[in-house]
Amino acid sequence: MAVERTLSIIKPDAVAKNVIGEIYSRFEKAGLNIIAARMLHLSKEQAGEFYAVHRERPFYNELVEFMTSGPVMVQVLEGDEAIAKNREVMGATNPAEAAPGTIRADFAKTVDENAVHGSDAPETARAEIAFFFNDDEICPRTR
Ligand code: PPS
Repeated sequence: MAVERTLSIIKPDAVAKNVIGEIYSRFEKAGLNIIAARMLHLSKEQAGEFYAVHRERPFYNELVEFMTSGPVMVQVLEGDEAIAKNREVMGATNPAEAAPGTIRADFAKTVDENAVHGSDAPETARAEIAFFFNDDEICPRTR
């Protein structure tokens, strides 16, 4: 199994619901180590750039509005197969299709406000981590 890093965002809806701790607990129980973390309120420019790949999709403006509607918590998760494992813990993009016990099944109601983001592949994980964190802000475990 390969040790990977992935970028996770707890979105404004979940921050507003006060479930950061519960979501962190799920990462930790799944063997995902939080090796960097920061809370911030994204600007329209930052959110627009982060989601630039979706610029042509009909929900782009709505997504940028939502992601800037309140603070988000961003973190780097590290562990075996961290990218796939995080997406498993998150559940399907549409909470109505998310497996029971996943973050989206438990904390999200709609596809447009779905609690968490997770990188979908190694290349995007690298780019998304670099979007939010400098190398010296990442603290891999030493014990
Ligand atoms: S995925 O998981 O990337 O394959 O999902 P995808 O369907 O491509 O969606 C990409 C991101 O857009 C969000 N999304 C939406 N936002 C607002 N309205 C609608 N209808 C909608 N559909 C999808 C979805 O939550 C994904 O956000 P992230 O942050 O990448 O999970």
